[in-house]
Amino acid sequence: MSNNIVVAIDGYSSCGKSTLAKALANKLRFVYIDTGAMYRAVTLYFLRNNIDTTDTGKVTHALNDIHISFKPSPDGVRVLLNNEDVSDEIRQMEVASNVSTVAAIREVRQAMVKLQQLMGKSIDVIMDGRDIGTQVFPHAQVKLFMTADPQIRAERRYKELLPKNPAITMAEVYDNIAKRDHDDTTRDESPLVQAPDAIVLDNSYLTPDEQLAFTLGKIKPLLEGP
Ligand code: DC
Repeated sequence: MSNNIVVAIDGYSSCGKSTLAKALANKLRFVYIDTGAMYRAVTLYFLRNNIDTTDTGKVTHALNDIHISFKPSPDGVRVLLNNEDVSDEIRQMEVASNVSTVAAIREVRQAMVKLQQLMGKSIDVIMDGRDIGTQVFPHAQVKLFMTADPQIRAERRYKELLPKNPAITMAEVYDNIAKRDHDDTTRDESPLVQAPDAIVLDNSYLTPDEQLAFTLGKIKPLLEGP
């Protein structure tokens, strides 16, 4: 049996999970795996190839043609879809608007969970998503559940998207976040729920440094053992 460490970070959209996960990975020298990026890459493939998401046969067939991987680079980890770097494209609104539909498909989730379990099988990882501590690694040594005020989340996301999408509006970003919260928590397949043993982190009024310090404070004793 492998004795690698898994840090699972789950929570709502645009909560700063990836910012914290990257900082933790850097500090602890673990590999960071952004599972939202994987669902986004599948969504991009479906959009590009006009895959009818209600057609299970077509979805299953398409999944066989999708290869997702991560590549470290000087500007952070890049997401590859069939060896093409799609890291920027998967952040566009078109993908954001369609990703919850795709992430709710059972066959998509089964394929992604399998891949995520393989990725975190033998190396120390920080993995962020919606079901990491509940479905992907229910026995993860460390589980965090992140939350923040939806208005604050929308403001953060808006600032992030604006430089590349000057036409975007705050209302559009807020509505997208509200819709994704609703979809993520009410879908039939692995809805977003807090694992009973997760540490809750509400970061509405915390800086990234404060979040890192809080989390390291919680993680370090667990990593060092009794
Ligand atoms: O974390 P993110 O916003 O990049 O995630 C994109 C979408 O993928 C989001 O709507 C929820 C979904 N997702 C999921 O269902 N399960 C995961 N483990 C990660 C993301």
